[in-house]
Amino acid sequence: MNTILITGVSRGIGRATAETFLNNGWLVYGTSTSGSVPFSHDRLTSFQLDLASAESIENFKQQFGETSLDALINNAGIGLDEDSAPPIDLTVLRRDIEVNVFGTIQITEVVHQNINANGKIISISSQMAALNQSFTYGDPSYRISKAALNMFTLNLSKDPRLVDKNISVCSFDPGWVKTDMGGPHAPRKPEEPAQELFDLITQGFETGKFYRGTSVRDW
Ligand SMILES: NC(=O)c1ccc[n+]([C@@H]2O[C@H](COP(=O)([O-])OP(=O)(O)OC[C@H]3O[C@@H](n4cnc5c(N)ncnc54)[C@H](OP(=O)(O)O)[C@@H]3O)[C@@H](O)[C@H]2O)c1
Repeated sequence: MNTILITGVSRGIGRATAETFLNNGWLVYGTSTSGSVPFSHDRLTSFQLDLASAESIENFKQQFGETSLDALINNAGIGLDEDSAPPIDLTVLRRDIEVNVFGTIQITEVVHQNINANGKIISISSQMAALNQSFTYGDPSYRISKAALNMFTLNLSKDPRLVDKNISVCSFDPGWVKTDMGGPHAPRKPEEPAQELFDLITQGFETGKFYRGTSVRDW
């Protein structure tokens, strides 16, 4: 049976993605900061994971052990900032980087050796991280954290430990999605990026790229 770890399945895009993989017969390991998720399935196992806490990541590592995986989706993330006007609030920046960058790097390091040959890793980034765009000032900490996450994706795609096992790595821009983070006016439903993530994982993708839907986009 195919197996996947998805961080942050308690709500939003992560929940819809977990449900999509479950509906397609996958075994899903999911996380939330509390350890519980508001839905159940006989092929879903949930874990407590706070990406801002080294202790929580270590506890997850002990519990997860050598469980083998076909895929990892780094979905859990925070933002948008309260710092919508200059200057950048360094407290907010540190918090966003702690979860979206350090925590994501640490959990990937913990589980990458569990991923089978030809496996996949997708990290959820954002249009707001794109360097090749014009935009008006706002949410700088979130933008900076997701741009750093994209560079992590590029580094990971060159990591010999993953290259040797033919593990593909990409960043994914889900668009503007109706969730607690995206708010009620977003045009996309969480089920839409969830299906795109399923298609990328099952049909494959080019390693070291930034995807919007199932197409490569500019960084
Ligand atoms: N919604 C959008 O329009 C949009 C656009 C571009 C990118 N994204 C990205 O898509 C991903 C999912 O976003 P979403 O809109 O679904 O957000 P959401 O509804 O706010 O859900 C966030 C998820 O991340 C988990 N999480 C939050 N802080 C965490 C921490 N410190 N450690 C571990 N898990 C944590 C939450 O768990 P708890 O329930 O336990 O707090 C929850 O499951 C994020 O990476 C986000 O940046 C979203």
